[in-house]
Amino acid sequence: MDDRPLLNRRLQGLGTTIFAEMSALAAATGSINLGQGFPDTDGPEAVREAAVRALRDGRGNQYPPGPGVPELRTAIADHQKRFYGLAFDPDTEVLVTAGATEAIAAAMLALLEPGDEVIAFEPFYDSYAACIAMAGATRVPLTLRAPDFRPDLDALRALITRRTRVLLLNSPHNPTGMVLTREEARAIAALAVEHDLLVVTDEVYEHLVFDGEHIPLISLPGMRDRTVSISSAGKTFSFTGWKVGWVTASAPLVAAVRTAKQFLTYVSSGPFQYAVAEALTLPDTYYTAFRDDLLTKRDLLATGLHDAGFTVHTPQGTYFITTDIAPLTDSDALTFCRTLPNRCGVVAVPNSVFYDHPTAGRTQVRFTFCKQQRILTEAADRLRKAFNG
Ligand SMILES: Cc1ncc(COP(=O)(O)O)c(C=O)c1O
Repeated sequence: MDDRPLLNRRLQGLGTTIFAEMSALAAATGSINLGQGFPDTDGPEAVREAAVRALRDGRGNQYPPGPGVPELRTAIADHQKRFYGLAFDPDTEVLVTAGATEAIAAAMLALLEPGDEVIAFEPFYDSYAACIAMAGATRVPLTLRAPDFRPDLDALRALITRRTRVLLLNSPHNPTGMVLTREEARAIAALAVEHDLLVVTDEVYEHLVFDGEHIPLISLPGMRDRTVSISSAGKTFSFTGWKVGWVTASAPLVAAVRTAKQFLTYVSSGPFQYAVAEALTLPDTYYTAFRDDLLTKRDLLATGLHDAGFTVHTPQGTYFITTDIAPLTDSDALTFCRTLPNRCGVVAVPNSVFYDHPTAGRTQVRFTFCKQQRILTEAADRLRKAFNG
């Protein structure tokens, strides 16, 4: 073998995701894992039963149709109508994917040429950097800064060049919990129209907004034919392992994304697609109760972290709290997170790894609150004892 690296240049430096590292550390030390964003209780029993029924009835056990089963595509279109008043044709404007992750990958692979630039908020959800790299494009970060993580719209304007092709936008934003306001969304949409940009929106936390409202960018003037809207069932219904996601967009954009998607997985999650179709028809009370439960948990963990001495940046949405560890230690977030499990049996993730900016996230640490209340209380107690006597 020659000494050429096995991993190609595009993927150099992407390594193992921080979630894998920190979840392995949680398992090895028996710690409470507030690192990776998965709930410790499953979603509604009726939805789980719907999956069992589909399996038993032989629905989805063989390759489902490439764009997704019709029942689910219809349910997704109905969901967009019910919550946002948006009309999508289930046959041509909806695509089912293997989670939002595949939708993001397929969108980047479909829409980008090598050398194109993609502007995204940093800290980034970690798959963005990888997917942009796999497409041979360049990521251009718009840095969100503590304490409130509002996007600087003048800075966004200044980042747009002749090479900019896509804005990849995540709101509610992981990890900061920032939720775009209507004014911000409108201003961003106006820039996209002015510069004729495509917009890919990652909306997986659409039903977890505590302060403000979720505004799909695709609903704004001039955006219907330039936006690829992405969401998924994992967060909303607490079945992150099922990996059922979707795209809603104009027929030409769906066709482009589908072309890439069909050579990634082709199809996935057969029986779960039927179950998610049923989940999407749950009454509004489900969505409200889900959000209220997470709001209680947000406040519980925020109080605990505050009492332990962290600076807490209360999130407007998502199920993550970004904190600042500067009041507690001189160490950086990565070092802090690597030592935290042995110190007090709690796992968190460093936001610093989601920034290209060398210092903006240096002391930011993220905790998830999608865990049972007694687990959050125990984690808060451990942190308080470790840092605040
Ligand atoms: C911002 C964001 N996008 C996408 C995903 C992945 O979603 P899925 O599990 O549906 O692939 C996550 C999961 O944590 C996320 O936080």
